[in-house]
Amino acid sequence: MNLPVGARLVGVGAAVPSAVVTNADLEKLVDTSDEWIKTRTGIRERRVVSEDESASGLAIEAAKDAIGFAGIDPASIDLIIVATSTPDNLYPSTACMVQAAIGATRASAFDLEAACTGVIYALSIAQQFIGSDTYKTVLVIGVDIHSRFLNWEDRNTCVLFGDGAGALIMKAAEKGEENEVLSIYLRADGTGGHLLCIPNYGTAYPHADSTPPKAMHRFLHMNGRVVYEFALNAVPEAVRTVCAKANMKVEDIDFLVPHQANKRIILAASERLGIPMSKVVSNVDEYGNTSAASIPLALSDAIRRKQVIPPATCALVGFGGGLTWGAAIVRWTAKDKRG
Ligand code: COA
Repeated sequence: MNLPVGARLVGVGAAVPSAVVTNADLEKLVDTSDEWIKTRTGIRERRVVSEDESASGLAIEAAKDAIGFAGIDPASIDLIIVATSTPDNLYPSTACMVQAAIGATRASAFDLEAACTGVIYALSIAQQFIGSDTYKTVLVIGVDIHSRFLNWEDRNTCVLFGDGAGALIMKAAEKGEENEVLSIYLRADGTGGHLLCIPNYGTAYPHADSTPPKAMHRFLHMNGRVVYEFALNAVPEAVRTVCAKANMKVEDIDFLVPHQANKRIILAASERLGIPMSKVVSNVDEYGNTSAASIPLALSDAIRRKQVIPPATCALVGFGGGLTWGAAIVRWTAKDKRG
């Protein structure tokens, strides 16, 4: 779809808690081993929030990082979208908390929930607002602190997730500038919702029942093998579709920036797409699955490490609870304004 106004990504940022939980730390909690976790997932360690840290705190830090990168005035931001499944509160939204904290005095703000695909959904909304000439500057944040919903006695899930935040800034293309958000593709399949879920948390869970043992079930649940198969199909399908929408071939992608759930999924999906690992961005070994944060966190890291050097055509691809999945093709030309 051709929108009247083009869009560009001009900033990226990230924030993670300082506390590191290694595989050796988890060996003390559940019947697992560093060897098992590394072989099956590629994860070495992850970050976990302390009691006084929150999703909004990480989101604010990531937002400030991206604002510094883009060299923009927070008062110029028109809209803030926070993709999260683990907000501080049902309301105020985490986006409103960010809006107040960063001094984005003119911005409207809301949260969006599409689990690990949240940032792709948020980018799509940002592109629509910019493309229709409604807004000029949109701040998109993905943040999750799944550690608060993990059963630390369940080895099937507690080894996989980490906490973090990532942010992207999208701006309207000025006269003479190219559109750099080339295509976006979104999907959902609610029939698979039970495969990856945090039940008993929302209003379907009567307050009167919030006593153990039912409250004990407010944990993340996952059918790992089925979600693995879903991801192996969803990633190639989304990347091929979003490339076709952008009138390009998979070979034209300079970097694949996939959701960082599991190194094996990343390897197998890249192989199916014929994309060599030199073109694939991954930091799952260091942070685990940070859900909505993972794509901007991976991109931010890859730019800092100088793996991704502009100009680069990047395919961002996400998948997760809902089930949801989706992808975006963006040209990354932005330079870090902090030098
Ligand atoms: N340490 C040691 N053993 C573990 C373990 C752990 N942390 N977690 C599971 N196991 C055991 C299982 O209990 C099972 O034992 P059993 O055969 O005696 O029942 C065995 O390891 C093999 O389990 P299996 O599920 O076949 O392992 P796997 O190779 O499929 O890997 C996952 C498990 C979870 C790593 C993998 O299925 C996966 O990555 N799925 C996708 C998860 C995901 O990405 N979710 C988020 C999407 S956004």
